[in-house]
Formats: sequence, structure tokens, C-alpha cells
Amino acid sequence: MSNDSNATNQSWGGRFNEPTDAFVAEFTASVQFDQRMYFHDIQGSIAHATMLAKVGVLSEQERDQIIQGLSEVRADIEAGEFEWSVALEDVHMNIEAKLTEKIGITGKKLHTGRSRNDQVATDIRLYLRDEIDFIASEITRLQQGIVGLAQREAETIMPGFTHLQTAQPVTFGHHVMAWNEMLQRDYERLMDCRKRVNIMPLGAAALAGTSYPIDRALTAELLGFERPSYNSLDSVSDRDFAIEFCSFASLLLMHLSRASEELILWASAQFDFIDLPDRFCTGSSIMPQKKNPDVPELVRGKSGRVTGHLISLLMLMKSQPLAYNKDNQEDKEPLFDVLDTVKGCLRAYADMVPALQVKASKMRNAALKGFATATDLADYLVVKGMPFRDAHEVVGKAVAYGIERGKDLSEMSLEELQQFSDTIVDDVFDVLTLEGSVNARNHIGGTAPAQVREAVKRAEQGLSTR
Ligand code: ARG
Repeated sequence: MSNDSNATNQSWGGRFNEPTDAFVAEFTASVQFDQRMYFHDIQGSIAHATMLAKVGVLSEQERDQIIQGLSEVRADIEAGEFEWSVALEDVHMNIEAKLTEKIGITGKKLHTGRSRNDQVATDIRLYLRDEIDFIASEITRLQQGIVGLAQREAETIMPGFTHLQTAQPVTFGHHVMAWNEMLQRDYERLMDCRKRVNIMPLGAAALAGTSYPIDRALTAELLGFERPSYNSLDSVSDRDFAIEFCSFASLLLMHLSRASEELILWASAQFDFIDLPDRFCTGSSIMPQKKNPDVPELVRGKSGRVTGHLISLLMLMKSQPLAYNKDNQEDKEPLFDVLDTVKGCLRAYADMVPALQVKASKMRNAALKGFATATDLADYLVVKGMPFRDAHEVVGKAVAYGIERGKDLSEMSLEELQQFSDTIVDDVFDVLTLEGSVNARNHIGGTAPAQVREAVKRAEQGLSTR
């Protein structure tokens, strides 16, 4: 990057008497981070020039020269042969200067009927739209992994928790399908956000529109936007679409963070429910026995970072009067970091989830402890005619007895159980087994293996039509 900021920027230097202070040039520039939008900046410029020629503002020859020149600039950038200059402030003016250097005076006509204000708003939307499409495909890949895991482990029984205390037996497939539901909502939120990203600000110019006979519908069509925006002041100034995206991202990472917390617990020696493949873990430089669940831990940590960026953008926007203010240049770094973070986390998760090794017998043994079938015993008594509150009391006493003797309900003899109620007879053991417990919850949304398979089918159908 060239730091030669002695020269006053040619694009607006006309009314200035002295060159920009070198520090101020660096301080106010954005090219250091907005150069990553070069592809979309050029895409927008090509559409703009095409439209200008269609309405007669540029000649066809000028249009062709501009498109040819912009294509060369893009090739230079992609070949690493483009010298970005801080004096030229941002990606837009760097590219325009280079274009003019290549094709001469016609290059200076590209900016007719537009401003950097509508240009930058357009670029961010084009850039974000492509990123959204990639992120959507990564969410789909992760969901496919989860659904596959659920199908394989539809019958695997583990303790289900509330308050992180053993509550009732659930199937592992059912547990991971809960993650899938969260991701399904995240996906839908992303698609909804995309609709509002896909509106074209170009033509709003600096703030009031332009006096040239532009055809905004044509430019929008060329760029694949749903339609042109309806108010020029709003178009150049609001970044709510980026905030909305960061809000989606915060929720997604909140969900991945919750799943991470579970993976970290399950991979501990105390739970020992799963093995994370070695390639997703690291060791300790001092404790030779350690295998640390780094990937889930980092994802959990990164969720805070993404939510921080959401708050930054909300604060950035909240006090700005209409229309464009330089504050908005600060939208890019948080947004780009959110994009990079989300893509990294999704990639790690989509690769890791199908490779999780489930320790079914460890899960089963854990479910046999902690009186996970206590509710089933209470329900059994209710079916035999006892009011639920009385049944709750009876089972509570049986549990207290079990705690004293170190025995789970299913390990007690019929005589032991009958101390608490003579309503209990030998068919009680059908409901005290783990399989009996999960199979009994056989309704839509329940944990029964049959319902897990239904949920998997439903999810696969949805994923296949995306
Ligand atoms: N670099 C600026 C941004 O990121 C582009 C728009 C600047 N417009 C202006 N009139 N200073 O927002």
C-alpha cells in the first residue's frame, strides 16, 4: 500500500488550498479494509456504465472502453499487481483513478450521475448478498451433518437435563435435532434478511438523486437486485441491513455457542459421552494427558465477539441525522469481521459434527443413574387411577429411599417399590426401563426414536428443496 498522502485527492481537491495532513489522510481512509469489495465495486460500475450508455449519457464506445478498462483493473488486482494508495482514500477512488490512468479522459466520465455515497451502499449490499449465499450453503451443510447424526443415533439413549440435573431419558438423535431446529430458524432469518439486503441504492447519488435521465430499474436488473430503493436520503444513509445481518449472526453464534458448551461438557472425563476427533482438538504443552476441545471453546468465545460487533453497529447508527455521514465508514470492519467469524465457525462445525464419536454405553449408564424414570413411575400410578400430585409424593419417597441405598428405581425389587404404594404391580418394569420411557413419548416433537426418524425425514425434505 502506498502511503504517499502529500498530494491532495484529485477527486475532490478543487476547492482546497493545502494538501491533506498526512496523518488525517491515513486516519480518514478506508482503502486498508474496503479493498476487499473491489470485485463488487467493479460489478456495480459496469452496470452503471451500461445503464448510462442505454440512456444516452455515455456513448457506446465510451461504455465499452470503461468496461474493458475495469476488467483490466480487476485482473491487475487479482494478479496482485495493483498498488493501493491511501491518498486515494477508498476502494472506489483507487479503482476510478486506475481506470483513468488506463483509458484516459473517458475514465472520468464513469462517476456521472452517482456519488460515492450511493456507490458504497451498493457495494456493501452486493458484497453481503454473495456472502449470505455462501453462509446459507454452509448452514445447510451443517444441518445435513446434524440430521445424518440424528438418523444414526435415533435410538441412542442419554439422560436429558434441566438445570443440568438428570431429568428424563431422551434419545441422542432427539437432542441433536434440537440444534437443527435452532439452525433452521437461523437459516430462515438469514433468508429474510437477504430480501432487505437485495434492494438497490444506486441512483440516490449523494443524497437527493441525480438530474441525469437514469434508468434505475435497468441497473437494478443488471445487478440482480429485487428493485431500486424508494427514497434517496434513506438509501445512502441507513445500514440497518448490515445490523440485521449481524443480528442474525449473533443468534446463530449464540446457538453454536450453546452446542459448544454441550460438546465441551460431553467430551470431559466426567461426562464421557463423546469423543471429538483428534483433528479438532489440541494438546497441552505441560499436561501430557490433555486433549482440549479447542474448536467448540473458540466458537463459544467468538459468539461474544460477534454480538459485540452488533452493538457497535447499533451505536454507530443511532445518532446519525439524514443523510450520509462519514460515521458510516465505520460499518465495514465490524461487518467484515462478523462475516469472517461466522464463516470460520460454520466451517469448523460442518466439518466436525459428522465426525463426532458417540459413546452410547456411557450415555446409557448415565441415564440409568439419577432417577431419570421417576416421572414415568408417577405417570404409571396416574394411569392406575392415582391423582398426579399423590403420585408425585409416592415417587419422591421412593427416590429418597433409592438415594439412601444407592439404588436406581429400575434396580429396586417389586417388594421394595410396593412399600410406597400397593398400586404398583409387576408391569411397572415396562415403564421403568429407559426404552419404555423414550418410546412412550411418541407424539410430534417427542423423544421417541420413531419421532426422531420422522423429524429427520421432515428435515431432509426441507433441506433438499433449498
Ligand atoms: N469510504 C466511504 C465509506 O466507506 C465512501 C463514501 C464517502 N463519501 C463521502 N462523501 N466522503 O463510507
